[in-house]
Amino acid sequence: MSSLLEVADLTKSYGSGETRVDVLKGINLTVAEGETIALVGASGTGKSTLLHIMGTLDRPTSGNVLFGGEDVFRLGEAALATFRNRSIGFVFQFHHLLPEFTAVENVMMPLLIAGMKRSEAAVPARELLAEVGLGHRLTHKPGELSGGEQQRVAIARALVLSPKLLLADEPTGNLDMKTSDEVHETLDGIHRKRGVTLVIVTHNEKLASCMGRTVRLVDGRVVSD
Ligand SMILES: Nc1ncnc2c1ncn2[C@@H]1O[C@H](COP(=O)(O)OP(=O)(O)OP(=O)(O)O)[C@@H](O)[C@H]1O
Ligand SMILES: [Mg+2]
Repeated sequence: MSSLLEVADLTKSYGSGETRVDVLKGINLTVAEGETIALVGASGTGKSTLLHIMGTLDRPTSGNVLFGGEDVFRLGEAALATFRNRSIGFVFQFHHLLPEFTAVENVMMPLLIAGMKRSEAAVPARELLAEVGLGHRLTHKPGELSGGEQQRVAIARALVLSPKLLLADEPTGNLDMKTSDEVHETLDGIHRKRGVTLVIVTHNEKLASCMGRTVRLVDGRVVSD
């Protein structure tokens, strides 16, 4: 497998002087194309911080993130945003769906923003919703869906631009066990069907055990890989 993403000597500190907090203290990590990784560790060890930097939502204090060998933080802001939109999908603990729009409209949104016509955007959006098991909920609004269904809509939306990498930060953190299992199965199915690379931050051991590899953070460093 070729490497999709490389994190090299990455550090992240917040604040300065006496209030400075060193969160990431030299992370090295290679993610191969098509791999599935669980990123685990105690609360406050820097999992979300690392995931956000891998997703280029935040910048490191030092070190690099290479995508296909290219140092992404050398890109200007506009080019970086374009790269992020095309290459990376995000799923968060809270789904951040737009409440006034239906499931299919929420999934279409990234395509509409990218300039696609409504009639064209509806096709992949419907397909993806069917893939996550929500083909029968296309016109429901988020408030008319269960927590697990809402999260599956968010997964469909994250995939609609066909990213190579899907990053998820505690996607089941807000769900009960049964609903979590449905979300796991959805992610697993998506990975098998699309081969998308998955990096998932989770406190859920069952979800972690479904991933091909576990990366553990302790005190800002990778301790087992
Ligand atoms: N913007 C910020 N400014 C200052 N400190 C921050 C900031 N963001 C995060 N931190 C600190 O960095 C540390 C790591 O935070 P992070 O959110 O990455 O942890 P985490 O491993 O995701 O924890 P959890 O499992 O609770 O989500 C924490 O001590 C946090 O207080
Ligand atoms: Mg976190």
